[in-house]
Amino acid sequence: MKKRILTVGLALLCSTAIGAQAAKAIDPSQLGLSKTDVTDVPTPPAVQHAGKPPGAGNTLWDPGYNTAPPLIPHDVTGLMPVTIKNNACLGCHLQPDKVGQKVKKGEPIPIPASHYQTGAYGKPEAGAKPAEHKGKLSGSRFVCTQCHRPQTNAKPLVQNTFGK
Ligand code: HEC
Ligand code: HEC
Repeated sequence: MKKRILTVGLALLCSTAIGAQAAKAIDPSQLGLSKTDVTDVPTPPAVQHAGKPPGAGNTLWDPGYNTAPPLIPHDVTGLMPVTIKNNACLGCHLQPDKVGQKVKKGEPIPIPASHYQTGAYGKPEAGAKPAEHKGKLSGSRFVCTQCHRPQTNAKPLVQNTFGK
C-alpha cells in the first residue's frame, strides 16, 4: 500500500514538473541573439578589418573606459593567431628601452610597464633575481589578443548605449 501511494505521488510530481516546464517553453527562434532557430547553422556575413596596415595612417581608438585595453587600430592580417612559436606583435611592440615614451605618429607604441615581469601585474620567473627579470615580458601578457582586439566593420548584434 505504501509503495502504491509513493508511485502515485511520484507520478503526480513528475506531471506537475513537466506541466510547469511546458508553460515556460521559449520558442527556439527566440533563444539566440540572431533570432534564427537554434538548430540552424547560419553563415555569418563576411566582415573586413577596419584598419590599414600598421603605421599606414591609422587613428588610435578612444578606449571605452579607464584601464580598458586599447583596441588594435591597424589591420592584423597575417599577424594572428599568436602562438607559442610565433608572436608577430612582439617584433614591433616589444621595446623595453622605450617604455612610457611618446613615439611619433605611425610608430609602434611600446608595450607599457604593466606588461613586464616587474610591472603592476607581472610576476618574476621563479627564482629569478631582480636584474634577470627586468625588461622581460610577463607570461600573462604573452597572448596579446586575449585583451587587445582588432575592429571589423561588423554591425552590432544588439543596440548598445554604453558610455563613459
Ligand atoms: C609592423 C609593426 C606592427 C606589428 C607587427 C603590430 N603592430 Fe600594433 N601598432 C603598430 C603601429 C605602428 C601602431 C600605431 C598605429 C598605426 O600607426 O598603425 C600600433 C598600434 C597598436 C595598438 C594601439 C595602442 C594604443 O595606445 O592605442 C595596439 C593595442 C596594438 N598595436 C596591438 C598589436 C597587437 C596585439 C599585435 C599583434 C597581433 C600588433 N599590434 C602587431 C605596429 C605594429
Ligand atoms: C591581460 C590583458 C592584456 C594582455 C594579455 C596584453 N595587454 Fe596590452 N594592455 C592591457 C591593458 C589593460 C592596457 C591599458 C592599461 C595599461 O597600460 O596597463 C594595455 C595597454 C597596451 C598598450 C598601450 C600602451 C600605451 O602607452 O598607450 C600597448 C601598445 C599594448 N598594451 C600592447 C600589448 C601587446 C603587444 C601585448 C602582447 C605581447 C599585450 N599588450 C598583452 C591589457 C593587456
